[in-house]
Amino acid sequence: MLVATVVGARPQFIKAAVVSRALAARGIEELLIHTGQHYDIRLSDVFFSELGLPEPYYNLGIGSAAHGRQTGQMLVAVEDVLLRHSPGMALVYGDTNSTLAGALAAAKLRIPLAHVEAGMRSGDRSQPEEINRVLTDHASDLLLAATPTAVENLAAEGLTGGVVLTGDVMYDLWLARRPIFEAMRLRVLDERGLSEGGYILATLHRPRNSDDPARLTAILDALLKHDEPVFLPLHPRTRKNLSAAGLLEKYTDMLREPVGYLEMQALLAGARLVVTDSGGLQKEAYFHGKPCLTLMQRSEWVETVRTGWNRLIEPEGLGAALENFSPSGERPQVFGEGDAAEKVAGALAGYRR
Ligand code: UD1
Ligand code: UDP
Repeated sequence: MLVATVVGARPQFIKAAVVSRALAARGIEELLIHTGQHYDIRLSDVFFSELGLPEPYYNLGIGSAAHGRQTGQMLVAVEDVLLRHSPGMALVYGDTNSTLAGALAAAKLRIPLAHVEAGMRSGDRSQPEEINRVLTDHASDLLLAATPTAVENLAAEGLTGGVVLTGDVMYDLWLARRPIFEAMRLRVLDERGLSEGGYILATLHRPRNSDDPARLTAILDALLKHDEPVFLPLHPRTRKNLSAAGLLEKYTDMLREPVGYLEMQALLAGARLVVTDSGGLQKEAYFHGKPCLTLMQRSEWVETVRTGWNRLIEPEGLGAALENFSPSGERPQVFGEGDAAEKVAGALAGYRR
């Protein structure tokens, strides 16, 4: 069987890395399609080379645009590729515009569609990702859920057929690469001038936080005023917004270029605390047992919040939380056993319409 995988953004390259390997191990042929949503070397190429993901067979080069235009252009281009290759199945990941475009293209051609990270819900429809998740799930034939909560969310929307609880593929990757990033950790901290347990690792890229200069300033000011080094590998979206507002200079000491997956995990392993609005980073902070402050009103990774390790916060509360947030409770392992990619590949191999 030929599986057409549609990816386009950083977190999808990371997720696809483990699944591609599991598909190959089962002898399933994969046609990797990169929409081009992320195109900076540090947001794209670095993950292909570092994580051993095969070169995409197609890079559609769609790039940045307003959501409708970007999604529409991807839909047209992915459809062309699917028509050319007639895959037996299409595979999408997560919740980006690339996910939705790939899902729509496959569903309209009646190519069976598999969705990795099905059933995640934040309940906040103001997030573009929530719309993408809901629509993708309702177009999918195989709903590959990372957690039991995701299975429950799907059932609440009447989606029970084709649902498989696989565990989280990001947890698989994290477990598999742990010996490597742990071995890198001291060197990375040394090169970056950081001390073990003595800094905050931060990322910011959600439109709600990065597109409003007043809100963005409030967040960065809280980090700047806090008396502890901050390492913030900055998403290009946020960098452009800071630059346009003439604010880049003010925060330059804590801002860094985006880093690769392994360096990021080494930095997580050494950090005292994480501040973020990234979905993936909330989870990885939990894997590492690092307290996480999340600048969102709702999180789809509810277990990280429920256990107390992840606190949802607004910019006004950030300064105090940087001082006093120190969770210590249990961290039940809800993200699977490290064999999620194998279960994804098995579900694809066994799928019958
Ligand atoms: C996208 C996803 C988001 C995901 C994030 C991961 C959607 C709606 N959003 O957000 O869910 O969490 O990726 O990082 O799909 N840009 C560059 N270089 C690039 C890519 C983007 O400079 O390689 C800049 C452009 O100015 C662009 C902006 O970033 O307009 C936003 O890019 P876009 O892909 O639309 O959304 P992200 O914010 O990256
Ligand atoms: N990440 C990375 N380098 C960075 C910032 C993030 O490798 O400079 C990784 C991070 O560890 C996680 C993933 O990118 O594995 C999260 O992607 P992102 O925050 O872009 O998207 P989201 O998860 O919010 O959709």
